Amino acid sequence: MEIREGGARISVDGVFYNPMMRFCRDLDMLVFAAMDSKEYFDALAASGVRGIRAALEAGKVAIFNDISPKAVKVIEENLRRNGLSAEIINGDAAAVMRQRSFEHIDIDPFGSPAQFMDSACFSARKYLSITATDTAALCGSATNSGLKKYGAFAVKTDVYHEVGLRMLIGFAVREATKYEKALFPLISWAREHYYRVHFKVRRSTSISAKIYEKMGHLAYCGACLRKKVIGVGEGAERCKCGEKFRVIGPIWLGELKDRGFVERVAEMAEGKLKKFLNKILIEADISTAYSLPALAKIHTLTLPPAESVVGELKKLGYEASRTHYCGFCIKTDADRDEIVKILEVNRA
Ligand SMILES: C[S@@+](CC[C@H](N)C(=O)[O-])C[C@H]1O[C@@H](n2cnc3c(N)ncnc32)[C@H](O)[C@@H]1O
Ligand SMILES: [Zn+2]
Repeated sequence: MEIREGGARISVDGVFYNPMMRFCRDLDMLVFAAMDSKEYFDALAASGVRGIRAALEAGKVAIFNDISPKAVKVIEENLRRNGLSAEIINGDAAAVMRQRSFEHIDIDPFGSPAQFMDSACFSARKYLSITATDTAALCGSATNSGLKKYGAFAVKTDVYHEVGLRMLIGFAVREATKYEKALFPLISWAREHYYRVHFKVRRSTSISAKIYEKMGHLAYCGACLRKKVIGVGEGAERCKCGEKFRVIGPIWLGELKDRGFVERVAEMAEGKLKKFLNKILIEADISTAYSLPALAKIHTLTLPPAESVVGELKKLGYEASRTHYCGFCIKTDADRDEIVKILEVNRA
């Protein structure tokens, strides 16, 4: 069966192909077009759809790899269908990336990218893109899996995607610094069952050490939902409400995007991609977020629109915004008591 996706025609007979990820691939093509790179390594290629689209739609020189000989046959056939020729490798992605460096690497696995991250960080020169579909391990639903795969602790909070994305980014950043590389998220998003992050890679001894200023933990109170950022080496006292904090992390506390980069991507986008990118763009660069219904429930308060709570917080001089991953969540540097005060006024 032939599928048409973007500029490509693809056979997916006998290989993995998820039509649900089309939105992700559509957005990826704009992201790739905004990157100043030529080479694109599709490390876990399956049908090769991502690499083929990267060649056709973003002008990249794609190199394909898959451990499955069947996938290699399908990629050969798909290159022919699209009038392309390219190098195809039939190897274990981790081994291939140990032996050779690539300008831009894309890790798009089943489940977790964790087992590929060491060699991907070793190999990537300019850009690194990763997908994770094991969101339960990252967002605190499966605490032990998160510890085993990502070496970080999380419990499920009211804003679990915020925590999940930051745990994934934090892991990638830690994997890279041993190679004197610093990873900076150009754009990252949480959607449906997956997380996606595109990083810029910089090789520098000093920057790779300094990046730990953007790493740390989140103290989280399960009773009142208060969250407090704790830098590396700092401690967490008790929550103001009297409960003990749970300490989530290590996680990334820095920016989830490079605003200038996302603006360039958004300029090329239309329709629902543009709408989604605008949601990412309005998001404040803050790592403490709250679900308004969860806060309202604790105090049995009614719920005003997220937008008006954001407006009230800004009037008080706080940073605040909505989030791209949840319509009733907000990000703010205000203490949770300030948010509750606003919800209480709404009750009156
Ligand atoms: C989720 S699919 C990739 C989907 C594809 N990137 C897309 O956009 O449709 C994962 C692929 O990784 C391959 N794979 C699994 N383990 C691998 C390894 N260690 N090295 C290389 N390929 C591997 C599988 O054969 C499978 O085709
Ligand atoms: Zn508390």
